Amino acid sequence: MRVIRAKDYKDMSRKAANLISAQIILKPDAVLGLATGSTPIGIYEQLVDWYQKGDIDFSNSMSVNLDEYCGLPAKHPESYHYFMQKFFFSHINIQPQHTFLPDGMEKDTQKECTRYSTLIRSLGGIDLQLLGLGHNGHIGFNEPSDHFSADVHVVTLTESTIQANKRFFGSADDVPRQAYTMGIRTILQAKRIVMAVSGKEKAFIVREAFLGKITPAIPASILQLHPDVWLVGDAEALSEIPEGTL
Ligand code: GLP
Repeated sequence: MRVIRAKDYKDMSRKAANLISAQIILKPDAVLGLATGSTPIGIYEQLVDWYQKGDIDFSNSMSVNLDEYCGLPAKHPESYHYFMQKFFFSHINIQPQHTFLPDGMEKDTQKECTRYSTLIRSLGGIDLQLLGLGHNGHIGFNEPSDHFSADVHVVTLTESTIQANKRFFGSADDVPRQAYTMGIRTILQAKRIVMAVSGKEKAFIVREAFLGKITPAIPASILQLHPDVWLVGDAEALSEIPEGTL
């Protein structure tokens, strides 16, 4: 585990973007595992800026996203398809046919889980997985549970996640109740993991996830077992991780 301490959100975004940029420079056809939520927006903005300056080329890169809400079409403004277009894909030269997300509109959930798992394997796995951190310790949409779910699966969102994500929707009632997500094994099979965290409201869960016990009650805690994790956070989010403990 490596911890990268940033001053603030902008600095955290630049440092995390640097790791992604380095990955693309070292391996132009890298498979990037991408994340949504408010935290990675600054990272995507930074990467777009470097792309526009001619410093990064995504033409051979591929991407697979962590998750997608069930029942939201790609054109719905709160779907993760839409998010990725809005903040990242439409601004860079990644080829549209090289970008993948779960299909939230597929009603045959078993079929979709199998399709997405098979697809990730067929790409040769994920070189770098970007993660945010849910307030309850979720990664992707792997919610707290009494077990770790391995592969791509459908989850029922917890009340805490619905409350946290309602800010993007009209009301809590409008937040879809279910989502497709990569499983814990899918995430752990990524060769490198970059977790981005920001803000003091994440400090407690960052400490629980990285200094607490490894438990499916805090899904992110399993990252303690991955050999190549970079925790990139601003001062507030890392305020409960004393220097030298990780
Ligand atoms: C959603 C996403 C997660 C993300 C989390 C935290 O639930 N499925 O991938 O990490 O939100 O979001 P934020 O960065 O807005 O706190």
